[in-house]
Amino acid sequence: MILLTGGAGYIGSHIAVELLDAGYDVIIADNFSNASADVIKSIETITGTTPAICQIDLTDKSEVERMFQEIKIDAVIHLAGYKAVGESVREPLKYYRNNLDSTLSLLEAMEKHGVTQFVYSSSATVYGDPGIVEYTESLQFGAASSPYGSTKEMCERIITDVAAASELSAVFLRYFNPVGAHKSGLIGDDPDGIPNNLMPFITQATTGKLPELTVFGDDYPTRDGSCIRDYLHVVDLAKGHVSALKYCMDHKGVEAINLGSGRGTSVLELIEAFERVNGVKVPYKIGPRRAGDLAEYYASPAKAEKLMGWKAELTIDGMCRDAWNFAMKAH
Ligand code: WQD
Repeated sequence: MILLTGGAGYIGSHIAVELLDAGYDVIIADNFSNASADVIKSIETITGTTPAICQIDLTDKSEVERMFQEIKIDAVIHLAGYKAVGESVREPLKYYRNNLDSTLSLLEAMEKHGVTQFVYSSSATVYGDPGIVEYTESLQFGAASSPYGSTKEMCERIITDVAAASELSAVFLRYFNPVGAHKSGLIGDDPDGIPNNLMPFITQATTGKLPELTVFGDDYPTRDGSCIRDYLHVVDLAKGHVSALKYCMDHKGVEAINLGSGRGTSVLELIEAFERVNGVKVPYKIGPRRAGDLAEYYASPAKAEKLMGWKAELTIDGMCRDAWNFAMKAH
């Protein structure tokens, strides 16, 4: 049985689908604070399988211990956590308490119950600003750009120390910019309130839910002046977790692995692709730069391919088509 924390969320639900399709038994642990119970129905519709569900507060050590006593867990994929960069700057304690406590509770229960395989949802944000555009895993941690980013780095450090003192085998998956949705249009990124990330801003500006998109700066030293990121289809990202789980099963120790495509796409290029693929106009204006944004970065995806045989397969056009298909079905 694979314990998938945060499995009702945007990325977690896509991982649940890939795990179930690959024949794994899955239990989703989620407190549903930022996810809807309908997502579970959608996972069932897509896969024809019903995952086990545990509604739980993972920061509560005794609840986590009870879950491990009741269910025989073989491996853990840990995504549950707060993830809004801006909010983490305003409410740092909320982020440190939640993101660290949940990871500690899980590691303690895993140690007690002899569970030795751990896939951790990390982020390219741990690189900080290394002064180059292609990020390889051999780069050191950079100065954290937000409390959210600090929690990712701290959890990687905690897991590394635990692994050094035990039989734990762990993979840190450092995500670049996941976008898109399952091709069924049944699951996708549907944030409450004002979105935090670019693609939901694009879809909501296009449906009219938001008046328009603001492009944060067109005076960067890039090919068209807008920022460049490594966008990755969420289904490719989800498949990367299945590969990481298999890798953990056969290897000891810890590895940090980038999940990105290795390609950079600018904000204006993404908007152009979205308009072309979907035959729509994205209402947008150019605004000032957003504090803290780097001009350009993308993943070196070589290690993921070498160690896990994983590489991103889906294109920017596919990401735009699937994101819009989901937005049209959801609203
Ligand atoms: C992408 C690009 C913006 C909104 C963040 C976190 C990272 C990771 C993913 C997740 C940037 C531009 C955005 C808008 C815009 N964390 N943009 N107008 O900042 O690359 O990464 O999310 O949980 O840790 O830092 O992603 O989607 O916010 O922005 O022009 O309204 O889109 O400037 O270039 P980012 P993003």
